[in-house]
Amino acid sequence: MIMPKHFFLETFGCQMNVVDSEQIVDLLRGMDYAPADRPEDADLILLNTCAIRDKAERKVYGHLGRYKPLKAVRPGLILGVGGCVAQQQGEKLLKDIPYLDLVFGTHNIHRLPDLLRDVEIRHRRGHALEFHDRETRLRLFPQRSGGEAVTRFVTVTQGCDNFCSYCVVPLVRGREISRPSGEILDEIRQLAASGVREVTLIGQNVNSYGVGVPGELSFARLLAEVEGIDDIVRIRFTTSHPKDLSDELIDCFGSLKKLCNHIHLPVQSGSDRILRLMNRGYTREQYLDRVRRLRRVRPEIRLSSDIIVGFPGESEEDFADTLSLTEEVNYVDIYSFIYSPRSGTAAVKLEDSLTAGERQARFDRLLKIQEDISRQWRERDAGAILEVLVEGESRQGQGQLFGRTTWNRIVNFAGPRDLIGSLVPVHITQVYRNSHLGCLVTDQAPSHG
Ligand code: 5AD
Ligand code: SF4
Repeated sequence: MIMPKHFFLETFGCQMNVVDSEQIVDLLRGMDYAPADRPEDADLILLNTCAIRDKAERKVYGHLGRYKPLKAVRPGLILGVGGCVAQQQGEKLLKDIPYLDLVFGTHNIHRLPDLLRDVEIRHRRGHALEFHDRETRLRLFPQRSGGEAVTRFVTVTQGCDNFCSYCVVPLVRGREISRPSGEILDEIRQLAASGVREVTLIGQNVNSYGVGVPGELSFARLLAEVEGIDDIVRIRFTTSHPKDLSDELIDCFGSLKKLCNHIHLPVQSGSDRILRLMNRGYTREQYLDRVRRLRRVRPEIRLSSDIIVGFPGESEEDFADTLSLTEEVNYVDIYSFIYSPRSGTAAVKLEDSLTAGERQARFDRLLKIQEDISRQWRERDAGAILEVLVEGESRQGQGQLFGRTTWNRIVNFAGPRDLIGSLVPVHITQVYRNSHLGCLVTDQAPSHG
């Protein structure tokens, strides 16, 4: 009997990497690899990496170091790195880490089977790192199935053309391409047929979907088409660049009932001077104007954001502008990051006199303000009956289900398994930092959501 081979895959970073990892899993299953629960049991360990900040990148080296001793115990163990660090560091990784077997970049996931066979059969270490042209990349867009899932990410764009001055993404993911709308809609129809009820359309900047592609739908039109697919009950999208958030797209929140009441709209800074240095393409006032318009069209909408603290040259006054904008928008959540210089980006050339201590102190101040705001939002939900899309059995234990509100908050509650995939009203009884606890309502319609 042939013993099945096992893989252990670790995924870091954003939703684009999550989708890439799903494709990696599909390819590995096609090569008769089964998933392992622990790296110790694997014949193949792969890291799908993130290079957005130095900390994310250092993690890769840390994890590889931890796997090194496993190679001594299991001499046939294959170790590989894919994703954004692989793309940026390339062959240097193979040079620096003698026990690493293969490296594949963001445009070369499809080459993984070849690379693997080279290691397995010929014991040859290898890499696949070239960028492909638009036509090749469009051909390589993977068509995925829904499996057991209730919610799914669906890729609509890949890459980014914005070149925000701090950001490595355009360098490691390449130029933006929009996937043909016919293909996207076919995939969503198939997902719906296999039981998926919620789709999140993803890309580095979904708002510029179709721009520059003759005859292609705008992102707003694409959303309207998704709204027309019967078994899909909820639609989300991320990430939105504020400069490309058109009136047409904002109006979708007025006309499309399936669009959830949440938008992630990264502002990065509240200071016009810093926004200019970041090459973001909007002012504070233009951003606030988008927010006001969103709230006019969909009063229940909640916003979240990404904010970078300590961008080179950020003065106390610039930072105060970020704090005041955070309070003014009243975000439900923010993801804040201390600026991390990335090689190859424009911002590394800017004069930078801030110390690590100053950056950390600002980061802590922002966090404290947001914690209060987020708590107030959570408390608004306490006692309400909210509509929850049930996604599966909760990690909390037996008889517990979990799902999400339209605002993307996780809710745990007791209920039968056959509710998975349905929208149900849940009475929110406890609000915690990261999730809500609730009770299924059996005889009442939801009051919100
Ligand atoms: N330093 C800190 N944060 C960064 N981000 C992107 N590049 C950097 C960097 N060099 C943040 C931005 C982006 C999020 C995904 O990561 O806020 O929206
Ligand atoms: Fe990076 Fe800016 Fe593109 Fe977002 S829009 S991926 S921050 S370059």
